[in-house]
Amino acid sequence: MEMKMSPSLTTDLAAASATKTDVEGPVIRPRRLRRTPAIREMVRENEVKPADLILPAFVVPASRPRKEIPSMPGIFQNRVDEVVEECRLAWSLGVRSVLLFGIPETKDGVGSSSWQDDGPVQQAIRAIREKVPEMMVIADVCMCEYTDHGHCGAVREDGRGWDVDNDATLELLARQSLSFARAGADFVAPSDMMDGRVRAIRCALDDGDFTSVGIIAYSAKFASAFYGPFREAAESAPQFGDRRSYQMDPANAREALREIALDVDEGADMVMVKPALSYMDLIQAARQEFDLPVVAYNVSGEYAMIKAAEERGWIDGARVTDEVLLSFKRAGADLIISYHTLDFARRYHERGR
Ligand code: PBG
Repeated sequence: MEMKMSPSLTTDLAAASATKTDVEGPVIRPRRLRRTPAIREMVRENEVKPADLILPAFVVPASRPRKEIPSMPGIFQNRVDEVVEECRLAWSLGVRSVLLFGIPETKDGVGSSSWQDDGPVQQAIRAIREKVPEMMVIADVCMCEYTDHGHCGAVREDGRGWDVDNDATLELLARQSLSFARAGADFVAPSDMMDGRVRAIRCALDDGDFTSVGIIAYSAKFASAFYGPFREAAESAPQFGDRRSYQMDPANAREALREIALDVDEGADMVMVKPALSYMDLIQAARQEFDLPVVAYNVSGEYAMIKAAEERGWIDGARVTDEVLLSFKRAGADLIISYHTLDFARRYHERGR
């Protein structure tokens, strides 16, 4: 009968079932743990901090103007100096990493501008290395921004029409990765979804003596309509066809785990699920089944939806953003690539945590 003095929930439960009929109203009251901000803070299971977030950045050649991306308010195509400024700001707010995408001066069938050592991404890597030396620099590795047809690899015609030539593409990805490593990237992040790319890139990096350059693999990357705004930002929309013969079918979860397992075997240092919001089941499964850091990519379309609804006054954008980022952590993501990174980090500092 000493219910009020019960020291633990289990004792509470035992007491409750023994005396259920003696009391009015519920005995177990989870609301006790929500009563004050202090209690809520003490029992909070997950939190997002700026160092959990990775800042994506689009780099254009110096010949082009800085330009805001219409479908991604607050996100810009930046020149090298402007990217460096963003990184400086991000670092000062506690963000520790940037993921670079390049928009080159010229494109061709095989994306050869991607391995020019003075390309926009290579220049940005060197400049960040010099000006924000502690920042972790990740270079996205893919051909779609650099090919004139916009596919993520070399395109080949065969009897049945066109196809992206997997094995010929591996060589191109390796060249691009080596060029980013020479510029000083800490990690390369292949997002092309060719079979065997992690192994091919690992071998090329090791042969080039870049054994400390890591690979963050876009392992479970789906053929998603949520990439629409990114393709405007990176000017990388396919000029014919779509990406369904290399990016995954959104219907498939088991296959996603198989893709992750392959990348782990091939030497990935971190694995990724992309997009994030519609693929939370896979973030959770990846966390449970693999021991490597799991990265969630909160993609462009997910960002655009929040911004559009916020602009219409339909939702509180800041609160929705905080809730979405937290949900990735709760699902099991260690790191989150997000266009909300700078906004979130600013808010985090304004409220003092
Ligand atoms: C390049 C790449 C894409 C994204 C990241 N790397 C686009 C695509 O696959 O078409 C999408 C990121 C986003 O939507 O924010 N292959």
